[in-house]
Amino acid sequence: MPKPKIMKITFIGIGNVGAPLADHLQKLGHQVAIAARDPNSKSVQAALTQNVNFEVKTPSAAVEWAEVVFLATPFDAAQAALADLGTAIAGKILVDCTNPVGPNLVHGLNSERSGAEFVQSLVSAANVVKAFTIYGLENLQDNHYPGYGDLKPAMLIAGDDGDAKSVIADLCQQLGWEPVDTGDLAMSLHLEHMALLWVKMARVQGKGTGFVWAMLQK
Ligand SMILES: NC(=O)c1ccc[n+]([C@@H]2O[C@H](COP(=O)([O-])OP(=O)(O)OC[C@H]3O[C@@H](n4cnc5c(N)ncnc54)[C@H](OP(=O)(O)O)[C@@H]3O)[C@@H](O)[C@H]2O)c1
Repeated sequence: MPKPKIMKITFIGIGNVGAPLADHLQKLGHQVAIAARDPNSKSVQAALTQNVNFEVKTPSAAVEWAEVVFLATPFDAAQAALADLGTAIAGKILVDCTNPVGPNLVHGLNSERSGAEFVQSLVSAANVVKAFTIYGLENLQDNHYPGYGDLKPAMLIAGDDGDAKSVIADLCQQLGWEPVDTGDLAMSLHLEHMALLWVKMARVQGKGTGFVWAMLQK
């Protein structure tokens, strides 16, 4: 198998979701930078304690440098986080890891439009791919489910640009997921509902966080 291409990957948001993804990607050999509003913030400092190999840059420098940018902020912070990037984000792949969540675990945009399409509207010159959203952070930290042979946990993704989706599908595979392309970015609405389903089952109904979906096909 050819060695995967080393990519320059920037994280906007390096908390529960950003930090484990960034850590795994860096350990796979990719170059990883944090787009830091404040290099001394709790989340940036915690991420650096976990992995000293992250580079810390200003948001626009980090995005300019990157080939792939992960957005892993609270959904409500996405607009502010993307506001001052100007042309730095143009042509980049933006992985939307956010979930719009309303009170009592309803869809945060009343299920009328996906959060990913809202994010795409903020950065029209980027190619948004929805990914890494359908499970809780525990499965982003550790997605090993031994005892299922070659069957890997599924990571459902969506996006309008086929090339951008293949890059992210490849990163999913490197991270141990079976990427499942669900279609165009509008399909993200269903992925965001899957996230709510997972959270309700895992955290409300008490099933626990140690489960994922798998894709069986014939
Ligand atoms: N938690 C989960 O299990 C889970 C699973 C899947 C998807 N998600 C989604 O992933 C996203 C992140 O969740 P999380 O649990 O990782 O959140 P978190 O732990 O609170 O981390 C949020 C990160 O975003 C940064 N941030 C906040 N406001 C920002 C702004 N205006 N500009 C730039 N950066 C900003 C924070 O930086 P500072 O430290 O500097 O404030 C922090 O690094 C959410 O949209 C969530 O719905 C969460």
